[in-house]
Amino acid sequence: MIDKINELSRQVEAFAPKTTAEIEEFRIRLLGKKGELTALMEAFKGVAPELKRELGQKLNALKTAALNRINALREEVGRAAELQAAAAGDLTRPGSAEELGSRHPISLVKNQIVEVFARLGYTVAEGPEIEDDRHVFTKLNFAPEHPARDMQDTFFIERRGEEPSADDILLRTHTSSIQVRTMEHRKPPIRVICPGRVFRNEAISYRAHCIFHQIEGLYIDEGVSFADMKQSLLYFAKEIFGEQARIRMRPSYFPFTEPSAEVDVSCNLCGGKGCAVCKGTGWLEIMGCGMVDPNVLKASGIDPEKYSGFAFGMGIERIAMLKYGVRDLRLYFENDVRFLHQFDKAL
Ligand code: PHE
Repeated sequence: MIDKINELSRQVEAFAPKTTAEIEEFRIRLLGKKGELTALMEAFKGVAPELKRELGQKLNALKTAALNRINALREEVGRAAELQAAAAGDLTRPGSAEELGSRHPISLVKNQIVEVFARLGYTVAEGPEIEDDRHVFTKLNFAPEHPARDMQDTFFIERRGEEPSADDILLRTHTSSIQVRTMEHRKPPIRVICPGRVFRNEAISYRAHCIFHQIEGLYIDEGVSFADMKQSLLYFAKEIFGEQARIRMRPSYFPFTEPSAEVDVSCNLCGGKGCAVCKGTGWLEIMGCGMVDPNVLKASGIDPEKYSGFAFGMGIERIAMLKYGVRDLRLYFENDVRFLHQFDKAL
């Protein structure tokens, strides 16, 4: 028996497993119900009394050594396995979700407006942001002394002289310049919607910015009337603000349209009863519009005797503010993700 005990002691000491499965196998071989050490314990019962003391001590020492070794090895092998897994990354962990970006609210609203007019047969036209006076003012019937040409409103890049010149280079102050470019290059019928960035030398506040976005529409054909314009704009208002939306027109003035009007939409917050946003009037101003002035048609080679048309233009920021209840225009330019993320769902 002593030989067997010594033999097992040696095995316990030499045992160098690589996996927890090997350790478990070893434990069962020694200490399982039919294990070798278990068998020795059983045999110990029949040992001669004078040998009991020595063998008993040896057996107990072996058992303790075996258990300690098994526990120690378990920990060691377990830690090694953990380290290995950590090095490879835990492949069973769920992946971290990719954070999706969202469209900027100005793009969202621009796309919606373009879509509405696309249904009415309009196609998108674009033009340069750096323009000449000719396309921004002169061909749009702005008299040379018109205040909108003044330094206060317009960012000039190159001036020809003291007096305004059609060749002055500037940042466009409205998207109406795209009207002119379209009329120069296309023959009626013309139906275009022109989105774009515009620039005005204004102090930045919650309601004004020196850079903003406009969208302009132009429709020219034979026999286009003010009634056509009114119906198209009512359709637009209902599509953007909801079926309950109503519009009204107030006489206004633009050099390039005659007659001209400002369009108001019924306040979608109070339903027209009057609230803080509509300043108690029940109406919100959304755009300018009018019948294209015959001078403008003529300036771009379109016969005003044969053709007539209407144009309208609106600020995209303003429509987006009214649609989403945004009170401060500057939020659109700061790109604070806490603001932008609110439009994730609007995609
Ligand atoms: N261009 C005008 C503006 O910037 C808007 C407008 C466009 C008005 C077309 C009438 C017709 O205010």
